[in-house]
Amino acid sequence: MTPLSLTSALLAWGGATGGGAMTTSRCRAPPVVSQWGGFKVQKSDRLLIREAWERADAYRPGKPNWFTQKPKDLASLHEELMPTISSMEPKDPPGIPGSGNKTSLLGALLKSLSTGDLALTLCSKEPPVLTELRDWLVEVLPMEIAVLGLPEEQGRVLATLVRAMDARRILDLGTFIGYSSIAMALVCADDAKIACCEPDTEYARSARDWWLKSGVSAKMQMHECTAQTMMQRLIDNGEAGEVDFIFCDVGERELYPEIHELAMQLLHVGGVVVYYDTLWAADEVLDHAPYPQMRQFNEQLAHDPRVLASLVPLSYGITICIKTLHLDGAALASAKATGGDDELVALLRERREAVAAEIAAL
Ligand SMILES: C[S@@+](CC[C@H](N)C(=O)[O-])C[C@H]1O[C@@H](n2cnc3c(N)ncnc32)[C@H](O)[C@@H]1O
Repeated sequence: MTPLSLTSALLAWGGATGGGAMTTSRCRAPPVVSQWGGFKVQKSDRLLIREAWERADAYRPGKPNWFTQKPKDLASLHEELMPTISSMEPKDPPGIPGSGNKTSLLGALLKSLSTGDLALTLCSKEPPVLTELRDWLVEVLPMEIAVLGLPEEQGRVLATLVRAMDARRILDLGTFIGYSSIAMALVCADDAKIACCEPDTEYARSARDWWLKSGVSAKMQMHECTAQTMMQRLIDNGEAGEVDFIFCDVGERELYPEIHELAMQLLHVGGVVVYYDTLWAADEVLDHAPYPQMRQFNEQLAHDPRVLASLVPLSYGITICIKTLHLDGAALASAKATGGDDELVALLRERREAVAAEIAAL
């Protein structure tokens, strides 16, 4: 069975248990998707399986499947899908069994149960307007678009960080219908400002509507352009070093390295940037095109002397970076390009002397 027919089986299973799967009759036509070409590739059938799988949340007593809104039985779903998974060609790498990139469906399930579901069950309650927003997504949009919305538990993480830092100058990159921006706006101070960007006009309009409904419009600013354009505009307007918190969830994940460089200019030391979707399983079922780039991006962050980075394996993964040191990005790139540590050490020494001089002049 191909991944496509596996998806069909999964959705049909929703019907078999009375779920009716994802009927399209109540969905309007998908909006134009040209601006998020990257996402078209990312939202593969295998990803849809993973998302449906993770949303199956069988261990939340009394809660229906998030997509089908019907009760589900994860054990019978597993039983039904296992023959398909078992019939796939084994690709175990040499070495210790399980040491490669392969994850069993059951393994993926256990992972999601031990992260997403616990995170959902054992957290403070979601603000009602955000629950309403998520319901609206499923009700009105086709599934492949509805799943672009931020998962509940990730919204909670953002809100927690923003509140803990008392962040007041915030950027939301890739706003979509507004979930992440509202999650942050509801907890930040009255005088906080959140600059958002969304290149898709229709999504941007819906986000504005949801801001109004949530009572947070006064804190919001919408830039109907790409994240790179908005960030460069802010730098040109003299906002370098002024930003407290950035949430990056732009659809074109391959842009993360470029966005990171702009983020390093905009954040002050002590500011935080959170990258979403940074953890992808790589196996037959859950394989996902941008995985190698994401891995590379995480490695890049791990070796970036300007940040302290932590990859949190919660559902799709978030990487939280705190900016600990300001370094000129171009100088850093050139020091790294020369290959040796000497250039990097010289650059860091130079920076330390500059900081010492700044302190002495105070
Ligand atoms: C996964 S969705 C974001 C979800 C959103 N953060 C939320 O809380 O629901 C990704 C969004 O990024 C937008 N996008 C794509 N490329 C972009 C870019 N270069 N800059 C900013 N946004 C972009 C897409 O239109 C899409 O709405």
